[in-house]
Amino acid sequence: MSRCCDPSAYGNVFDERDARRNVSAFRRKGLGSTAAAMVRALAERGLEGMTVLEVGAGPGTAQVALLEAGATRGVAFDLSPASAAVASELLAERGLRERVEWHTGDFVAERAEIVPADVVFLNKVVCCYPDMPGLVDTATASAERLLAVALPRRRWWVRAGIGAINGLLRLRRTSFRVFSHDPREVQRRVITAGFREVSTGRSPVWEWHVWERG
Ligand SMILES: C[S@@+](CC[C@H](N)C(=O)[O-])C[C@H]1O[C@@H](n2cnc3c(N)ncnc32)[C@H](O)[C@@H]1O
Repeated sequence: MSRCCDPSAYGNVFDERDARRNVSAFRRKGLGSTAAAMVRALAERGLEGMTVLEVGAGPGTAQVALLEAGATRGVAFDLSPASAAVASELLAERGLRERVEWHTGDFVAERAEIVPADVVFLNKVVCCYPDMPGLVDTATASAERLLAVALPRRRWWVRAGIGAINGLLRLRRTSFRVFSHDPREVQRRVITAGFREVSTGRSPVWEWHVWERG
């Protein structure tokens, strides 16, 4: 399916237990602070009537927030089959199931099947995929209006953390790895594709950006 990674390794790491843990945190506290800030920034620019394509949608929590903030329709992509199953329950519980088209698979490899979207959303996904240029270029090609991306900052403590996580993954004998792709290179590719930054924020670990086309 993918030209660069083993989908079953994603299913092993982003499994049903992980998805259910994320959904139960979402039910208790809402979205995590990075995703919540991105949704707010998009809502300020107007989500009414928009189609939102989310890549690496996990268990669908951001889909719920984006639709409840005014988006009309969602298209979600995730490599892990567990994400689809758990998201389907969450979306049904919120009465949103019919408004989201879910794809289990590699967004980069299967992009040809996806309709372009007004808004493209990637929260903590670039660091889970080896082919950063392929992922970012495919996302920019899909985004007709807005693109929102959160990724790890390039700081020594973040890289040390990623190194430690990869050590644990090696011990688990899974081929999945976390990547510290350079945010400046991501930014450069997005700007070259014709976008300008309209909103940004950061925490000690994460930085997020919203870009608008034109
Ligand atoms: C760290 S999780 C984040 C999930 C969700 N965005 C969230 O914040 O809760 C990264 C997710 O991206 C998915 N993913 C990574 N690369 C992908 C790709 N090329 N196509 C589809 N899904 C991808 C993984 O399967 C995983 O569920």
